[in-house]
Amino acid sequence: MHPLRELTLEDLRRRTSIKWREHDPDVLPLWVAEMDVRLADPIARAVSQAVAEGDTGYPHGTAYAEAFAAFAAERWSWGGVDPSRTSLVADVMTGIVEALGVVSSPGDPVVVNPPVYPPFFGFVEHAGREVVEAPLGEGGRLDLDALEAAFIHARSGGRPVTYLLCNPQNPTAIVHTTEELRGVAALAQTYDVRVVVDEIHGPLVADGFVPYLSLDGTGNAFALVSASKAWNLAGMKAALLVAGEDAAADLARLPEVVGHGPSHFGVLAHTTAYREGGAWLDALHTDLAANRVLLADLLAKHLPDARWGGGPGTFLAWIDCRELGLGDDPAAAFLEHGRVAVNSGLPFHHGEGHVRLNFGTTPEILAEALERMGRVVGRA
Ligand SMILES: Cc1ncc(COP(=O)(O)O)c(C=O)c1O
Repeated sequence: MHPLRELTLEDLRRRTSIKWREHDPDVLPLWVAEMDVRLADPIARAVSQAVAEGDTGYPHGTAYAEAFAAFAAERWSWGGVDPSRTSLVADVMTGIVEALGVVSSPGDPVVVNPPVYPPFFGFVEHAGREVVEAPLGEGGRLDLDALEAAFIHARSGGRPVTYLLCNPQNPTAIVHTTEELRGVAALAQTYDVRVVVDEIHGPLVADGFVPYLSLDGTGNAFALVSASKAWNLAGMKAALLVAGEDAAADLARLPEVVGHGPSHFGVLAHTTAYREGGAWLDALHTDLAANRVLLADLLAKHLPDARWGGGPGTFLAWIDCRELGLGDDPAAAFLEHGRVAVNSGLPFHHGEGHVRLNFGTTPEILAEALERMGRVVGRA
């Protein structure tokens, strides 16, 4: 089984999702975090069966939470997921906004670590919270000194502070270590900061992912989990908000409207992914590892002055293009002259001269894209 080698460019061009429709048909899309995979068989079967049987009503029960709990115990030796301390939410970003809603109020500060997934800024600001930046440090790793300084600054206004952590980090694909996360938990305790952690990319880490809530001293935190990145289910709306053992009372204050977000198909698909998608996920890990090696080779060949740390956290590569002579926004040049769509680093903050490239695609598309990008630099 090779999830990343099953589809042709012709197959993919028939897709109607944003990745394949945002740009002109001559553009190779390596931007938004969708992967070029078929649905894993067990998920396709579960959804198709529901359609065939007219099982198209509202979601019910705790199957999603139970499937996630079993997956977390098996893969990450984290036996602490209690389905009674979880809530279904429409998707991870909605869940983040709702978690912020129960631990903070409009005007309160929320600390984030740029460069980070752009909606961390937009959604937080839309919720009326004030973003406080604690930039990542050397090699894109968490900088605990910067985090402490941000906590102190954020507290100085006298308002409750929340920290929105991305584990692993999008866009750098850095997987935070146990030691780093313990450092976060200690700082959060010292400065009385509530942590909300987005672990949507967690299952994409083949080895060494540490769920934040699995560590001591994280009981009043919230985690957002979902099968949507690892099994490519963004169109199947459902995610899980997991409360730490001291956050159950906060979880109980979620407004009723939140539970109306996830769809029955979403819950079915995500539940099946966690329950029966293990073999497919293992095969995906193998293909992603091969693509990581291929991307390093292609960069050396076509863009030798680009720098990539090779973060193992997901299918995203954060590439430093500052030596390429393409200015602050190389993605614009790659699109215009190379007909390759990668994400500009700018909306991630602190991303000048960087691009985010999605290598969750076939080796052929990756090779063609890098060749085109190399030609752009040749021109420059
Ligand atoms: C870190 C991170 N969080 C959240 C999301 C969006 O998740 P959802 O569609 O479940 O809101 C993404 C999508 O790429 C992401 O990378």
